[in-house]
Amino acid sequence: MSDEWVKIAAPATTSNIGPGFDTFGLAMSEPFDVVEGRAADSGIRIVEVSGPGSENIPMDSKINSVSIAAEQVLKRCGADFGIELKIRKGIRPCSGMGSSGASAAGGAYLANILCGERLSPTETILCAAHAEDVISGGLHADNVAPCILGGFTVIRSYEPFEVISIEPPKDLGMVVALPDIMVATSDSRKVLPEDVSVKNLVFHVGNASALVYGMVCGDLGMISRSVKDAVFEPARTKLVPHLKEAEKEALSNGALVSFLGGSGPCIMSFYDGNTNLGNTIAESVKAVYSKNNIKCDTWVTRPGIGCRRI
Ligand code: HSE
Repeated sequence: MSDEWVKIAAPATTSNIGPGFDTFGLAMSEPFDVVEGRAADSGIRIVEVSGPGSENIPMDSKINSVSIAAEQVLKRCGADFGIELKIRKGIRPCSGMGSSGASAAGGAYLANILCGERLSPTETILCAAHAEDVISGGLHADNVAPCILGGFTVIRSYEPFEVISIEPPKDLGMVVALPDIMVATSDSRKVLPEDVSVKNLVFHVGNASALVYGMVCGDLGMISRSVKDAVFEPARTKLVPHLKEAEKEALSNGALVSFLGGSGPCIMSFYDGNTNLGNTIAESVKAVYSKNNIKCDTWVTRPGIGCRRI
């Protein structure tokens, strides 16, 4: 058994994207987590955690996304060895940027390499989604799927599990603004309604279908018009101070659309990469928070590839 360290970059992702709660996801070029591991005699041991927010990441392998996902892979492959892990966070937890998803996907992807790549991408996604279920209070694969496959993904069905992978338009610019506010996915899921009305169902089906069409055809206008959410963002707005003002500022400064990223608190904006650099949008959202004495980090990025060995 080789004891060579294997290093994986696992990108941030944005999920929901308006109408696609728990189904749509999109990988970003940056930021990303780095998960490093090597085969060990037995058990899973986390030897190092570093990077933004790492003080809140447990070293206990029973409650850490990376190790839970990696253990699932070892189990599925019937592996007779353990793994030693190092985690460098590039995406802080409780951000709505797929932080736990990147850790879970990175852990599953890494373990699969150590097992000789015996699992298919879909099986690897399922191992990572199991970790999401344990950590964030609900089975959802809309972050781990794009994190592993890259690009834009649609979970067509959870049972049986089927995921569709679509290459997003190259000129789709993305600005992520992350105010210094913590929103745990488990808390953000608790405020959601139990049921949706037929009216809202019709609204979501129409917009979700059109958004997928826009991704397939590379139609930024259709994508932007379709990022609509009548149910989930309205329920979560109270968890993110100044959300609506931040979205409005982004729109006034060149964004095609601005919306709550995943379970929040990050604010996502799409822009036309042919005509805009994205920096003004980033600065405008940052300004909303700085005038309220809240620090806000921003990334100007593009759709990206999934987990990769570095
Ligand atoms: N779809 C999930 C949610 C993503 O909105 O709760 C969490 O990262």
